[in-house]
Amino acid sequence: MLQIDADRFRESFESYSEIGATDDGGLHRLALTDADERVRETFVADLESLGLDVRVDAVGNVFGRREGTNPDADPVLVGSHLDSQPYGGRYDGQLGVLAALETLRTLDDEGIETDRPIEIVDWTNEEGSRFQHAMLGSGVFAGVTDLDEALALTDADGASLGEELERIGYAGDADVSPFDVHSHLELHVEQGPTLDANETSVGVVEGVFGMAWQRVTIRGESDHAGPSPMHTRTDAMAAAADAASELNDLPNRLGPDAVATIGEFSVEPDSVNVIPSRAEFTVDVRSYDDALVADAKAAIRDEVEAACRRHGTDYEIEDVWEIPHTEYDPEVRKVVADAAERADVSYERIVSGAGHDAKYVNNLAPTAMVFVPSVDGITHNEAEFTEWDDCVAGANVFANATVELATE
Ligand code: HGY
Ligand code: MN
Ligand code: MN
Repeated sequence: MLQIDADRFRESFESYSEIGATDDGGLHRLALTDADERVRETFVADLESLGLDVRVDAVGNVFGRREGTNPDADPVLVGSHLDSQPYGGRYDGQLGVLAALETLRTLDDEGIETDRPIEIVDWTNEEGSRFQHAMLGSGVFAGVTDLDEALALTDADGASLGEELERIGYAGDADVSPFDVHSHLELHVEQGPTLDANETSVGVVEGVFGMAWQRVTIRGESDHAGPSPMHTRTDAMAAAADAASELNDLPNRLGPDAVATIGEFSVEPDSVNVIPSRAEFTVDVRSYDDALVADAKAAIRDEVEAACRRHGTDYEIEDVWEIPHTEYDPEVRKVVADAAERADVSYERIVSGAGHDAKYVNNLAPTAMVFVPSVDGITHNEAEFTEWDDCVAGANVFANATVELATE
């Protein structure tokens, strides 16, 4: 059984966490910002100090290749993402990249040569917060998302992803999806309450929810907040609030695992004494049942339409992004479960409500994930926390499963 160096793993975790650190113990490290550039530089330096061949592809994904004894064998791909939510936790994404890095460092310590090469990756813009399409880098790598479309995505200030890659020096020249992948493994925090509540150390992830993002725009008439009688108003904000309150109830009507979130909400002209002429909000709907996501999208349209009829406003609904549910490979899941058993680590099978890069890589190659507990399920929040013993136990399971996959 491979044992990672828990102290070194912790040192890396603490030093990476200083890059883009917030005052409240989280990360403010949006994709392709200066903080993301600094953490990428740190990651590249760590890969180079392992003697890896480092490559950056055209959408900014950073790869490092550790050769195996059989250079012709398809590599095992490991990794996750280093970008964060605007006020995210230190574990989401970062723990998975560092568990993969610690695995390679431990292989070097032990002088272990695997049959297969191992490729480690930091994916671009997994969060989808700054550039709205989550798991963007892995989606381009998997051939699901068009590279030019990805490069043309813009943030709220109008900066394009392509320009930002150039600005931080990560507009790479390596081909996108340049190699076949034998198998893929990603370690990630659960970001839900199950493992913590059950006091289980590791989750063997069976699959990931399907999800859809929509942007709803409602148009009314601006007018004076004072002399305009309520019955004469065409208030975009009132219509949006009306629709939004119905959408919060939607999951209860759709099915047991359905969830819906209104994450962004803005009005124009955004002035205290003007009736809003325009309201815009996003909706994120998810379920393990793809038909339920489709029902949710139809229900969103019905609720927005009904609210606009009541308020005399117009609307439009933009489909921003959608991905069906994913079922991970039974063989790779078994490799993870066996590694947990050999390490005498408690584990259970679990489904992920959060999206992950592995979801797209699963289109290319047999894939699975290793979850570690999130205390109280808190995430996308600076208070996100995982007990370090659980981080180490999960990383050991991950490292041994990786070696197993890299052995022909
Ligand atoms: O949206 C998600 O589930 C992930 O955090 N990108
Ligand atoms: Mn993540
Ligand atoms: Mn996330």
